[in-house]
Amino acid sequence: MERVKGIEPSYEAWEAAVLPLNYTRRVARILAARTAIRMRGDMTETPASENAIDAPSSPHRIRSFVRRAGRMGPGQQRALTELGPRFVLPFTPSPMDLGATFGRDAPRVLEIGFGMGDATAQIAAAMPGTDFIGVEVHEPGVGALLKCIGDLGLTNVRILQHDAVDVLQQMLTPQSMAGVHIYFPDPWHKLRHHKRRLIQPPLVALLASRITPGGYLHCATDWQPYAEQMLKVMSAEPLLTNTAEGYAARPAWRPLTKFENRGLKLGHGVWDLLFRLSTPPSRPTR
Ligand SMILES: C[S@@+](CC[C@H](N)C(=O)[O-])C[C@H]1O[C@@H](n2cnc3c(N)ncnc32)[C@H](O)[C@@H]1O
Repeated sequence: MERVKGIEPSYEAWEAAVLPLNYTRRVARILAARTAIRMRGDMTETPASENAIDAPSSPHRIRSFVRRAGRMGPGQQRALTELGPRFVLPFTPSPMDLGATFGRDAPRVLEIGFGMGDATAQIAAAMPGTDFIGVEVHEPGVGALLKCIGDLGLTNVRILQHDAVDVLQQMLTPQSMAGVHIYFPDPWHKLRHHKRRLIQPPLVALLASRITPGGYLHCATDWQPYAEQMLKVMSAEPLLTNTAEGYAARPAWRPLTKFENRGLKLGHGVWDLLFRLSTPPSRPTR
């Protein structure tokens, strides 16, 4: 297990390491971890509700991720250096000009939490007429997707290494995305961590506001209780309509992700949810 300046790679690992310590050592450990987090910029991000563009509600910050330390392979590192300047966009707290970013007008799909980007790259390669914006906080994942972009010669992908909630609120304008993909978001198994799940009513309302009428929100998970939460929350969002009776079949265009493959080998089930943004009823013509 890798550690960086006192931060364990997951909250559970951190908790397991800290709880057995006596009081003084526990306090020292907590202070060290806080300092390390601050040094890595985790506590200095713009609050999500500031600069929000016409958001239906301002979801309080969802700590949906833990900044994991991770080793970057030489290929990923090289891709980051060589391709990063072209394909990784800086986070800016102002609306992004998608036409200028991609240099064309095309449908755009947002992916939140692409992990190592294998599925993102496969989908983007299969749909050259669509532009993809991948948002991921994990740096080795960014390097891995850049490597795929280089290997496959993709031009229709851009990456933002930032919290997706800020990106949705501050960089994406209403009705600008033809689709949103959220594949195997962290399930946050423990009850006290459920508040860290991405799929909650305020975030789904924000997502729906960014999708064009007729566009879609596609989620998948291998954790049944989270699938049930997704179904409930997405069904309750007035702007969305389920395309299936309950869970959907995996669309042919969604390849198996790395995370999913690992789960399938362990015998996990997989649940897809595919909802469409309702199109406003057209006015009767006389
Ligand atoms: C369980 S992994 C799944 C990765 C990938 N979709 C797959 O199926 O292999 C979830 C990913 O979402 C990312 N993530 C979680 N919350 C995020 C957020 N608010 N903004 C950007 N990325 C996030 C995490 O860093 C992690 O890589």
